[in-house]
Amino acid sequence: MGIEQKQGKTIRGMYRTIIVISTLIIIIAIIGLYFFNNEESNSNDESYVDISDQNRDKIENGIHLRTGLIANKGLTTVINNCTSCHSAELIIQNRLTRDGWAQTIDWMQETQNLWDLGENEEIIIDYLVTNYPIRKKGRRSVLKNVEWYTLNK
Ligand code: HEC
Repeated sequence: MGIEQKQGKTIRGMYRTIIVISTLIIIIAIIGLYFFNNEESNSNDESYVDISDQNRDKIENGIHLRTGLIANKGLTTVINNCTSCHSAELIIQNRLTRDGWAQTIDWMQETQNLWDLGENEEIIIDYLVTNYPIRKKGRRSVLKNVEWYTLNK
């Protein structure tokens, strides 16, 4: 065997070793990444709020949890028509008369591209007046039958 042949063999041997080592490193890296990712997603799981389909329409204490709306007749119609542009919060924080709700809907139809509600309009307004009526009383009702006494100086 000549010197050049020997050298060629050694170089080929080195190449083979390098390739084997690189392959091993890549495999270890892939396995490592896999476990690392798994661990990461596992540890994050608990911090996510579960909004899987069966919980989407969960109702607790008469409140539809996802929207915060009162669970009552007409709820689904209201959710379908009234929560796609803004949150239900806008509805909850407003308390209006029948006319007031009708006008709000008219206003949205005229200026905010709210669609024609058709027969649903009555269902929706009924729901709104029943569950979010104007508060008749102020923070406390007016005192009645108070026996005032005169201050003697
Ligand atoms: C096409 C979009 C759209 C839909 C659907 C929609 N709204 Fe609105 N609504 C708006 C916009 C836009 C505003 C103004 C939001 C703001 O001021 O940030 C608004 C505001 C409101 C307000 C507050 C009005 C005020 O005086 O501040 C109420 C209450 C309301 N919407 C109720 C409803 C109800 C009830 C429905 C279902 C019939 C509904 N919205 C459906 C677009 C929509």
